Amino acid sequence: MRAIAALLLGASLVGGAGGADAGESVEYLYRLHCSGCHGVEGAGSLVGRIPPFVGIVGHFAGTEEGRLYLVRVPGVANAALSDDDTARLLNYVLHTWGSAELPADARDFTAAEVGKSRETHVDDISRLRAKLGAELAKHGKSIAY
Ligand code: HEC
Repeated sequence: MRAIAALLLGASLVGGAGGADAGESVEYLYRLHCSGCHGVEGAGSLVGRIPPFVGIVGHFAGTEEGRLYLVRVPGVANAALSDDDTARLLNYVLHTWGSAELPADARDFTAAEVGKSRETHVDDISRLRAKLGAELAKHGKSIAY
C-alpha cells in the first residue's frame, strides 16, 4: 500500500514537471526568466541600461498606463510565461523591491489583467516609460536611474 502511494506520488511529481514551468515557485521563475538581466537582487545594470527595481518599480503600479507598461515591457512580454505566472512574477517584483513606492491602494496583478494588457500593442516602450516619468515627476516622484 505504501509502495503504491509512493508510486502515485512519484508519477504526479513527474507529471507536474512536464508542463512549461507548471507549478514552479515564483522565486524559481524569477531566477530562470528575469535574473539574467535584472540580477538575483533586482539591482539591474547601469552598463546594460537595466533599471534597478528598488526605488522605481512600485511607482508604475499606481496608474493604468503604468500597469500596462509593466506587462508590455519586452523582458516581461517576450518571456514564454502564462498570464498567471506573469501576474505572479510582477507581484513578486513589486512586493519584493517596490513596496516602498507601491501606492497603498494598488491592487495585485491578476491573470485576467495581464491577458487584457497583452492585447494592447505599445509602439514605443521607451517613449511610454519617458511619458510615465514625466507624469510621475509632476507628483515629485522619480524613475530616473
Ligand atoms: C534580456 C534582458 C531582460 C530580461 C530577460 C528581462 N528584462 Fe526586464 N527589463 C530589461 C530592460 C533593458 C528594461 C528597461 C526597459 C527597456 O529598455 O526595455 C527592463 C525593464 C523591466 C521593468 C520595468 C522597470 C523600469 O524601471 O522601467 C520590469 C518591471 C521588468 N523589466 C521586469 C522583468 C521581469 C519580471 C522579467 C522576467 C519575466 C524580466 N524583466 C526579464 C531587460 C530584461
